[in-house]
Amino acid sequence: MTDESIAATSPAATSPTATGPAATSAAADAVVRVRDRYAAAATRAAAGQTLVDPCETTVFGAGLYDGTDAAASLAVLPAGVAEASLGCGNPLAVVDLREGETVLDLGSGGGIDVLLSARRVGPAGRAIGLDMTDEMLDLARRHAAEAGVANAAFLKGRIEDIPLPDASVDVVISNCVITLSTDKPAVFREIARVLRPGGRLGVSDLVADAVATRTQDVDPTGCGVTAVTADEYRVMLAEAGLDGISVTPTHEAGPGLSAAIVRARRPEV
Ligand SMILES: C[S@@+](CC[C@H](N)C(=O)[O-])C[C@H]1O[C@@H](n2cnc3c(N)ncnc32)[C@H](O)[C@@H]1O
Repeated sequence: MTDESIAATSPAATSPTATGPAATSAAADAVVRVRDRYAAAATRAAAGQTLVDPCETTVFGAGLYDGTDAAASLAVLPAGVAEASLGCGNPLAVVDLREGETVLDLGSGGGIDVLLSARRVGPAGRAIGLDMTDEMLDLARRHAAEAGVANAAFLKGRIEDIPLPDASVDVVISNCVITLSTDKPAVFREIARVLRPGGRLGVSDLVADAVATRTQDVDPTGCGVTAVTADEYRVMLAEAGLDGISVTPTHEAGPGLSAAIVRARRPEV
């Protein structure tokens, strides 16, 4: 994706507070910065180097899978998959996956949650990773090939404009990516569109602890985080037409920020 195409697809309204041409340009710049940061991280991971992404602290990465039933599955994945994990939680602990389901991971990075999901849904199911960064897609496809996982696919695209048909997915997961989006309402509308009626959302993400620590302009983690509060998150999910909404902060993840577990579902009718 070129910088021009990113600018062309960037949102007109970018946050609960920022609107207009300056905000649009700032949003496009933020997308470029996020993509470049994760392209560099993927390149280092592909070379077998330890990731030095500024997000990689004790509250991010594969350590968050310890003590869960995903830990055993992680142990059988090829070397490098866990090391390339840059999430802030474990979405597979947030949502139950059933045999035969189709799962979509928004911002799939090196593929950790896609590969774990593919095992959970079995050969009759499918796990799809979506990411805008070519280097991350290459890394994830390499990990899938090394793991011998046949029911996983990785698509290029933006989570604000998901390249999948309406009502084609049973479960949407994501791990520390929606917080990077400068157009969260668009992300939630797209989630509601691609979920089948009754489909579920299970996400690990970052939220601001209070309006005062919203990070629309300040990025204390250096990761491109644009965190909103849990209340704002709930309102946006409801406005997208989702129900069964819960946004539960779990642990501190930076100055004024918490990791959170997010659950919602698309109504049956
Ligand atoms: C914090 S990393 C998380 C990766 C993965 N979920 C994990 O747990 O390791 C963020 C990933 O989301 C991707 N990403 C960020 N913003 C995106 C957007 N708007 N659309 C698609 N992918 C995006 C980045 O390229 C990167 O691979």
